[in-house]
Amino acid sequence: MTMTVNGNTVSIPNDPRVSLLDFLREHLHLSGTKKGCNQGACGACTVLVDGQRVLSCLTLAVQCSERDITTIEGLSSDGVLHPLQQAFIEHDGFQCGYCTPGQICSAIGMLEEMRRGVPSQLTGDLCAEVVAFDRDEVRERMSGNLCRCGAHNGIVDAIEDVFREAAE
Ligand code: FES
Ligand code: FES
Repeated sequence: MTMTVNGNTVSIPNDPRVSLLDFLREHLHLSGTKKGCNQGACGACTVLVDGQRVLSCLTLAVQCSERDITTIEGLSSDGVLHPLQQAFIEHDGFQCGYCTPGQICSAIGMLEEMRRGVPSQLTGDLCAEVVAFDRDEVRERMSGNLCRCGAHNGIVDAIEDVFREAAE
């Protein structure tokens, strides 16, 4: 069994107990994805699986056979940061940076959810093909990604700066 991680095909371990998070960090040495709670409560381990945001601590590596995984290491190319990474710098979207890879992967997945019309608890029109972008929607949709440094205002500013036009 194999999966693709940041464009590279890798073999999945035979041990079915290995989480995607531990596979990325301990087997592939991609330490950008962070382990916070290891029980689905903090969002630090968020990665993209076929473009959808997923908590890698609650996902088994064997569940990702033939899937396409993107981690924070896969977002920049040729030393050029993803626009959202750059925006986090410009808007003080982090302090210690521990939650940041998960925040950025989660925000990218969130944008696709809004484009597909996936409603949140705050969405008024459940039949809308595209969910309108506003700060309350972003706060609600990013509420699964905790920042112990309290950088949430900068995080929302960065997301708004990069994604407001793209979401509409
Ligand atoms: S480490 Fe996965 S949600 Fe906290
Ligand atoms: S920047 Fe430190 S936990 Fe978010």
